[in-house]
Amino acid sequence: MTNVNGQTGEAKQQQTWRPESYDSDMAFVSAYGAPLVDLLDVKPYETVIDWGCGTGELASAIAARGAVVTGIDFSADMIASAKAKYPSIAFMTADGQKYRAERPADAVFSNAALHWMKDAEGAAASIAASLKPGGRFVAEFGGSGNVEAVVEGLRESFAALNVSKPFVNPWYFPTIGEYSAVLEQAGFEVRTATLFDRPTPQTGGEQGVRGWLATFADGILSGLSGEEAEAVVRMTEERVRPSLYRDGQWFIDYRRLRVTAVRQ
Ligand code: BEZ
Repeated sequence: MTNVNGQTGEAKQQQTWRPESYDSDMAFVSAYGAPLVDLLDVKPYETVIDWGCGTGELASAIAARGAVVTGIDFSADMIASAKAKYPSIAFMTADGQKYRAERPADAVFSNAALHWMKDAEGAAASIAASLKPGGRFVAEFGGSGNVEAVVEGLRESFAALNVSKPFVNPWYFPTIGEYSAVLEQAGFEVRTATLFDRPTPQTGGEQGVRGWLATFADGILSGLSGEEAEAVVRMTEERVRPSLYRDGQWFIDYRRLRVTAVRQ
């Protein structure tokens, strides 16, 4: 779910997560993940790793179907919240680009997390190494074109305002072809891959895009002064308004990449 952007040549920017407001304001993230739990089609006693589990909502839904679930997330705050909410589930802080499970699992599940892991090859290799041969991988995350209006609005606002640090995109949004190649290179057979639009309504009325930026663009805005960050948010709101605001509500321009694959 979270990462430190450590790409060569890019400024490091740390995303901070606030589990309480995440659960209350961004509840749509796990709500939209429910069909992915259906797709996982878990059997009782199967072992499942939730890769980027956040506050544990979907790990809990998978455990409720009888699986033995472990949740991993880069954010210690998210893991602390997950442990407090679901004490019977194993959660641990780990970098999904490097983690190797001690005991390979029957399945790896991941919702709305892999776009935070810019080292996609590292993540795919970690997932493959954490699965039994024949184990399945079921994931959904931002695909090519995801939140494009927001990304462009931020990029243009950073440039127009000439703020004190450059815009750095912390996200990985691959095409089907790009991600299939990454999975195949890691030893997976890709069974299905779908890229689809999911314009996603935000709560908070007029404040909707501001709330989204406060949660998810925290790392992008980190390092700016308070005044600079506020100016970037205001300008971004106005730049994206024509495409993302209608009838008193904001819709974020999500595009999901949903994949299923089997470890060879
Ligand atoms: C997403 O779920 O697609 C997403 C969430 C936060 C930032 C970027 C993308």
